[in-house]
Amino acid sequence: MNKNRNDKQQMKEELQGSSLDFIGNKTNKKKVFIETYGCQMNMNDSEIVASILSKKGYNTTTDIEQADLILLNTCSIRDKAERTIRNRLQHFNGLKKAHPKTKIGLMGCMAERLKEKILEEEQLVDLVVGPDAYRDLPHLINELEDGRKAVNVLLSKEETYADIEPVRLNSNGVSAFVSITRGCDNMCTFCVVPFTRGRERSRNPKSILAEIQNLSDRNFKEVTLLGQNVDSYLWYGGGLKKDFAAQDEETKKNAVDFAQLLDLVATNFPKIRIRFATSNPQDFSLEVIKSMAKHRNIAKHIHLPVQSGSDRILALMNRKHSIAAYKEKIDAIRQYIPDVSISQDMIAGFSTETEQDHQATLALMDYVKYDFGFMFAYSVRPGTLGAKKMEDDVPHHIKLRRLREIIDKQQEHSLYRMKQFEGKEVEVLIEGNSKKSDQHWMGRNSQNAVVIFEKKGNFQPGDFVQVKIDDCTSATLFGKPVV
Ligand code: SAH
Ligand code: F3S
Repeated sequence: MNKNRNDKQQMKEELQGSSLDFIGNKTNKKKVFIETYGCQMNMNDSEIVASILSKKGYNTTTDIEQADLILLNTCSIRDKAERTIRNRLQHFNGLKKAHPKTKIGLMGCMAERLKEKILEEEQLVDLVVGPDAYRDLPHLINELEDGRKAVNVLLSKEETYADIEPVRLNSNGVSAFVSITRGCDNMCTFCVVPFTRGRERSRNPKSILAEIQNLSDRNFKEVTLLGQNVDSYLWYGGGLKKDFAAQDEETKKNAVDFAQLLDLVATNFPKIRIRFATSNPQDFSLEVIKSMAKHRNIAKHIHLPVQSGSDRILALMNRKHSIAAYKEKIDAIRQYIPDVSISQDMIAGFSTETEQDHQATLALMDYVKYDFGFMFAYSVRPGTLGAKKMEDDVPHHIKLRRLREIIDKQQEHSLYRMKQFEGKEVEVLIEGNSKKSDQHWMGRNSQNAVVIFEKKGNFQPGDFVQVKIDDCTSATLFGKPVV
C-alpha cells in the first residue's frame, strides 16, 4: 500500500513535465518540439497549437535536438511551477550553443503573466505568446525568421479556438480532451488563472458536438469536457459570460447552459463516456446532477474542489459558498448518484489560517470521505488579491505539516473508497498496457479509479470490459475480466 502513497498527488505533479509526442515526419518540413506543463487545459492547448503550426509547415517531433522551434507550454499556478520552467530554460543553454538557430518560445500562463519582461530575464527566449494569441503564431514565427523577437499576450473576448481541430498529441487513441470554456471570472483571491487566461467565454455547442463526432468517427471512446469552471458554461451566441445579463429575452431563452450541454452531448453520443472538469461548488447546480443521473454514459465522478473546510477561510478566498451549502450539495449528489466518486483540491496554510481552520478542513474531509484529491501548500501569486491585501503569515513548516496531515487523511479515505469496490464488478474502459506489465491492461472505471487486470479474453484498448475486483491499494484496483 505504501508504495502507492500519494499516487494521485504525484500524477498531477507528473503532468508537469510530460513531453508530447506526435510524429508525422515528412522531409523538408520544419519541426516543433512542444513540452507541456500544468493542467489538462494546457495539454489541450498544445494540441491546438500543433494544429495551428501544422498549417505553417511545422510537424511535431519528440527529438528536441531536431527541433527548429521549442515551445514550453507553461504553468503559473504555484511558484514551484514557474521555477521548474526557469530551471528547464537553464538546461537549454547548452542546446542553444549546439544549435544556435533553434528558436525557443514560451506559451501559456507564465508567458501571459510575465509578458515582455521574460525576454529581459531569460535571454534565451525568442518568443512569448499568451493563451488567447495562438492564432497569431504563424505571424510571430515570421518575425522570428526575420531575426526579431516576437511577443503577443493580448487577451480576447471571443477566442475559443472552436474551429481548430486539435492534433491529438501523446494520444492513447481512446480518450481526448475537448475544451468548452476559456478563462475564469471567479477571482478566487489565491488564484492567478483569471489574470493569465482572461475573462470567461464559452464555445458554440455545435462546434463541440462536431469535434466529438470527429473523435467518435476516429474510434475515441471517452471525452473530457474542459474548462477552468465548466459549470459556468453558457452559450448565448458568443461573447463574455459577464455580458449575458445585458442580452435580450429571446437570446437569454435560447442560451445553452452546462446541464443542457451535458444532456446534448450524452444524448448524441451514447457510446462515448463523458467526463468533465473542473467544477466550482458555487456554480455546480442540481440540474447538472440530474443530467448526470439521467445518462449512464456520463462518468460517475465529480471533481469538486473546496480548498478549505473553514467558512472564514472560504470567505477570504472569495469562494462564494459556505461549508453548510457545500455539504448540502454533496448530500444531493449522493442522493441522485449513490455510487458517485468525489474528488477535491485543498490548499493548506492560506493567509491567517489557524489550527482551528485546519481542523475544520480535516473534519470536512471526514464528512465527505473523498475518493481522491490534489493537495497543495499555499503559494502567494503576484498580482492576486491574496498577494496585495493579505499577509502570507503561516510559517512554511506549519503549512507543510498541515499539508502532510491533509494528505495522510486523504490516503485513508482513498483506501476506504477503493475497498468498497472489492468483490464487485466494474465497467472498465481499456486505455492500454499497464505501465508495469504488458500481461495486464490498464483502464479506468466510471468513477475514475485506475483498474489493472489480467489480459484474459480477446480485448483491446477502447473496449469496455466488465472486471471483477479482487484487490486494491489506495490508488489502484486489481481484478480479472469477466469472460
Ligand atoms: N478551476 C481550476 C482551478 C485551477 S487551479 C481547475 O480547472 O482546476 C487548480 C488547483 O490549484 C486549485 O483548485 C487550487 O487547489 C490550487 N491552487 C491554485 N492557486 C494556488 C495557490 N496560489 N497556491 C496553492 N495552490 C493553488
Ligand atoms: Fe482559479 Fe477560482 Fe477560477 S481557483 S480558475 S479563480 S474558480
